Amino acid sequence: MIEKHFDIGFIANLALREKQIQQNYRPVIAVHKWFARRPGTLFRGLLLSEFGSGELENQYYEPHNLTGITIADPFMGGGTPILEANRLGCNVIGCDINPMAYWIVERELASIDLEAYRNAANNLVEDLRQKVGSYYSTRCTICGNEAAQVKYFLWIKTLPCEECGENMDLFPGFTLSTNNRHPFHILICSSCGELNEVVNPKSPGICKTCSSTLHQEGKARTGRTTCHHCGKVNRYPRPNGGAPVHRMIAIEYFCPQCKPGHQGRFFKKPDEMDLLNYDQAHDRWNSIQCRFVPSEDIPSGDESTRLHRWGYRNYQELFNPRQLLGLELSCRHIASLPEGEIKAALATNLSDLLRYQNMLCRYDTSALKSLDIFSVHGFPVGLMQCESNILGIIDEIKGTNVGSGGWNNIVEKYTRAKAYCQQPFEIKHHKGKKIQVKIADEWIGPSVKSNGVPTKSIQLYCTSSTELDLPQASLDAVFTDPPYFGNVQYAELMDFCYVWLRRLMLTDQSVFRQNSTRDMDELTGNTTMERGLMHFLEGMSKVFQNMTRALKPGSPFVFTYHHNDINAYIPIAVAILDAGLVCTASLPCPAEMGASIHINGTGSSIMDTVFVCRSTGIVNRRAIASTPKGIARMVLEDLQQMENGGIKYTLGDVRCITYGHLIRMSVWHLRGGWNKDANTDAKMAKVAKQIDALGSWQQVKEHLSVDISAPATQSWVAMEESVEYGGKHDDIAF
Ligand SMILES: C[S@@+](CC[C@H](N)C(=O)[O-])C[C@H]1O[C@@H](n2cnc3c(N)ncnc32)[C@H](O)[C@@H]1O
Ligand SMILES: [Zn+2]
Ligand SMILES: [Zn+2]
Ligand SMILES: [Zn+2]
Repeated sequence: MIEKHFDIGFIANLALREKQIQQNYRPVIAVHKWFARRPGTLFRGLLLSEFGSGELENQYYEPHNLTGITIADPFMGGGTPILEANRLGCNVIGCDINPMAYWIVERELASIDLEAYRNAANNLVEDLRQKVGSYYSTRCTICGNEAAQVKYFLWIKTLPCEECGENMDLFPGFTLSTNNRHPFHILICSSCGELNEVVNPKSPGICKTCSSTLHQEGKARTGRTTCHHCGKVNRYPRPNGGAPVHRMIAIEYFCPQCKPGHQGRFFKKPDEMDLLNYDQAHDRWNSIQCRFVPSEDIPSGDESTRLHRWGYRNYQELFNPRQLLGLELSCRHIASLPEGEIKAALATNLSDLLRYQNMLCRYDTSALKSLDIFSVHGFPVGLMQCESNILGIIDEIKGTNVGSGGWNNIVEKYTRAKAYCQQPFEIKHHKGKKIQVKIADEWIGPSVKSNGVPTKSIQLYCTSSTELDLPQASLDAVFTDPPYFGNVQYAELMDFCYVWLRRLMLTDQSVFRQNSTRDMDELTGNTTMERGLMHFLEGMSKVFQNMTRALKPGSPFVFTYHHNDINAYIPIAVAILDAGLVCTASLPCPAEMGASIHINGTGSSIMDTVFVCRSTGIVNRRAIASTPKGIARMVLEDLQQMENGGIKYTLGDVRCITYGHLIRMSVWHLRGGWNKDANTDAKMAKVAKQIDALGSWQQVKEHLSVDISAPATQSWVAMEESVEYGGKHDDIAF
């Protein structure tokens, strides 16, 4: 049982490491981007503590075969719980309202002949190289090699001055590179555009070409810029003028000839050939009839309206002509392939490639790489944009990819992802070393049929889980990660990929029938679609009830949740109570990684709470509390376990852990006499009142030795030892 066998410290430690470099621990995530992926480590830990036997830490690295156990996830997203359960040999049932999620999980679970895939991918890249490769070559400024390859083209937004009509570059700053990954800082000259290597950017001196004074700061700030010609203050963006216009300002390239003796990166100001290459790509694009580039308008939305404010009206405008040409030709190649998993995989690659091949990508001037469109959960429009080489570059000497955002990168990641599915592994940490432990006899994918009998089945649905009607008492567990109210606008963001993938893969029966992934029934708050808290709460309640009906009595319904505001947990408590569940454990586990969070000791939290619920069973008396002091005791126990796992935490984390126990105990105290048919407002008020009665965060905090300004490394101790609770075997039935 999870309540008895889950090891908070062990899993928290692994989950934290996983979230720092998720692609190393769970390479399968590289099949396609999905948002807010939970650590796979956590779900393996949960599944094994429920269905395995023995110490979790020992079991974790052993192969398992949980044949006959059926697990469901009504909000599967990128598929983390489903993949972990399938890998352990369980039958899995996954559902998501978003067709992209359905498609991605289907690819993650599909068998593929990796060699045939690699061959097909190489053919595609070679075909594309023949057709567009020359548009990505550049002349090396050191050795004159004209076959140097562009890693990134950097572009700045420009606007004509309202007063004098002169073009103004919207530079927020002139730094192209800091000295983090390159021996010098590089500043762009505001007068002639020359790239200048400087030692101290605070006193950068003069331009080596035109002798103008160099600056670090640009003029474009908070929607205003001053015309260098007439001094008029201009505002931006100007949505009525159409989509933004860009000017190429710099190139980062790779010269294999110079590389061996070269320090740092290669940068140049674009020369005539670079501009000509772009013009030629543009002409070529104008001369072809496009078949696959989407023509759809961008609908309004909580996130997508930002694009309208910048004058973008349709999806096509988010790309430059060279990108459109490369993408259209890639689509044509894929469309010509025979139907099957290889075609589906390459179409998925195309869709994932889009996030690097658009004019919303930014350039990280410190890490010197492209930041893809989804590096934040929105559509922020920058002023300096980054266009990656669509082919990708391979360093022939090292045999590795140089730069990011091209076909070679995507194919390499996909290959690693699918190879991991065939032979999954775990990473063990031993005396500061990382050891990759292959877990023999486990794999992610369909069962190998012996005697025609599948040993593990896979059922995926693309529908709202409010409508999901699974057979009664057929599930051994539900493991899920529901949407958090208003947190991520899955459909608005994923439509960016969907409009392309749909054109490529639409068939009569496919999941791509609708022209958008937006759906009234998505369980997120959305102002544009008028989905409020009630919609979220009622939807959640319905899904929890559906899944509880499908669960065998006493089987666990487990989900993760996270919010910095206790009010966002109230709908969840109502959903648990409506479904007739009792919450038997709330376990902390690190989820999102904010690099600086633990350093600056802010109030934000990276902790998810894992809620374990059951319709019937027993709960240890130690897990029950009715007073702030009692809740504080449980929080301290969790913190102790986290410390044992080597996890540091912030005050925000402690608060989130407290919320978990407050919600769990509120459910416990309200379970008798709960009327699910009562008015929703009344139900919410009841939960809120119960949380208050338990003392809320304010009172629980007083029973923790909490120093608000304490650094994250603070060691927490109980104010008083509690004696009022029973021992290991003091259970209460419910
Ligand atoms: C937090 S994500 C799941 C992430 C996933 N666990 C992972 O690790 O990748 C929540 C998912 O719920 C889905 N969703 C939202 N409303 C839904 C509904 N009514 N029915 C089914 N799925 C829904 C969203 O599309 C999203 O994929
Ligand atoms: Zn060179
Ligand atoms: Zn200059
Ligand atoms: Zn002017």
